[in-house]
Amino acid sequence: MSAALQREAARPLQRPAPVETPPAVPAAVREGSISFRGVSKTYVSPKGEVGALKGVDVEVPVGGVFGVIGRSGAGKSSLLRLVNRLERPTLGHVLVDGADVGKLGDAELVALRRRVGMIFQHFNLLSAKTVAENVALPLVVARRPRAEIEARVAETLALVGLTDKRDVYPRRLSGGQKQRVGIARALAGRPKILLCDEATSALDPETTQSILSLLRDINRRLGITIMLITHEMSVIREICDEVLVLETGEVAEAGPVWRVFGDPQHPATQALLRPLSQGLPEDIAARLRPEPPAAGGEAIVEIALKGTAEPDLSAIADGLGARARLLSASADRIGGHTQGRLLAGLRVGPRSVPDLSGLAHETKVLGYVAADA
Ligand SMILES: Nc1ncnc2c1ncn2[C@@H]1O[C@H](COP(=O)(O)OP(=O)(O)OP(=O)(O)O)[C@@H](O)[C@H]1O
Ligand SMILES: [Mg+2]
Repeated sequence: MSAALQREAARPLQRPAPVETPPAVPAAVREGSISFRGVSKTYVSPKGEVGALKGVDVEVPVGGVFGVIGRSGAGKSSLLRLVNRLERPTLGHVLVDGADVGKLGDAELVALRRRVGMIFQHFNLLSAKTVAENVALPLVVARRPRAEIEARVAETLALVGLTDKRDVYPRRLSGGQKQRVGIARALAGRPKILLCDEATSALDPETTQSILSLLRDINRRLGITIMLITHEMSVIREICDEVLVLETGEVAEAGPVWRVFGDPQHPATQALLRPLSQGLPEDIAARLRPEPPAAGGEAIVEIALKGTAEPDLSAIADGLGARARLLSASADRIGGHTQGRLLAGLRVGPRSVPDLSGLAHETKVLGYVAADA
């Protein structure tokens, strides 16, 4: 694996081919298995008990990209954090490469965390350290020899395409570059498993694309199992082989993405996929939430033009009654009647719902986008 990784690191990055089949990983390096067996997690807090996970039985395919989706609070992060024992299950077992994570001693736990890399939404880089020092950190903590650290830092920076930034401090990097450093740091210990909790949520759509390509590339070239949480359904569709849908701590459904997304059975999956089928622009769909944002933002409103009322634009603007922007529109005039729909983004204050009673047309709030999105 070591020589292979070095060879791979020396190769220039290529855009991955479209996802069709799971990556071919030789049987000899088929490490990276994760199994959840009857896993429940209950948090005990001063406010009482919270059942975050309830009887979860899931096998994560070795060497694949496994997506976890679900509403906020469904238990996604809790599930992920069980894999490297940032949390312990209240009931049941989490097996990594066949070993029960809950039963590991201190030394074994350190070894496990070396085999399981993790990347975060907000990158978690140390601002006082250079890119190379950030990447080296887990190896320094593991007291690896200096020469080995140098070699690993060079190989992982090459892998993520940041060789020329090795002596730069994180504040001089873009969001996408910071996440690449996060990925390099996670890969420096040559893990068999990479955990990603909302790794692209803080990035713009274009940067998201490049990070996703990189993750898929890493998955294919190194045969690493990737377990990835996202609220962006397009991410799952694009790079995951299988997907797990959690709903209030339970498995709603799970399976190959083509099957779950092609024919969603559970209402939770159907609700999560609705933005994709509503023909929303991708950047809006990725950030759509069902609840009004705590700090205010935009309500995404659909106005149906069904030929019954004249679509008077100024009346529509009055009816929206707030600062609105047009996101998309499609309409036809057939036999004197206008049919179609408008999508508008409407400013809303913290936790507030727009008043659309002044509109003559059928309207629907499809969801909300936070102001900082
Ligand atoms: N340390 C904790 N103490 C108490 N309750 C917690 C703790 N961590 C999570 N919870 C609760 O457990 C439930 C699941 O939380 P978790 O963070 O796993 O959800 P999530 O699916 O990742 O949500 P989000 O999409 O908002 O990140 C929630 O009700 C949450 O409030
Ligand atoms: Mg979470």
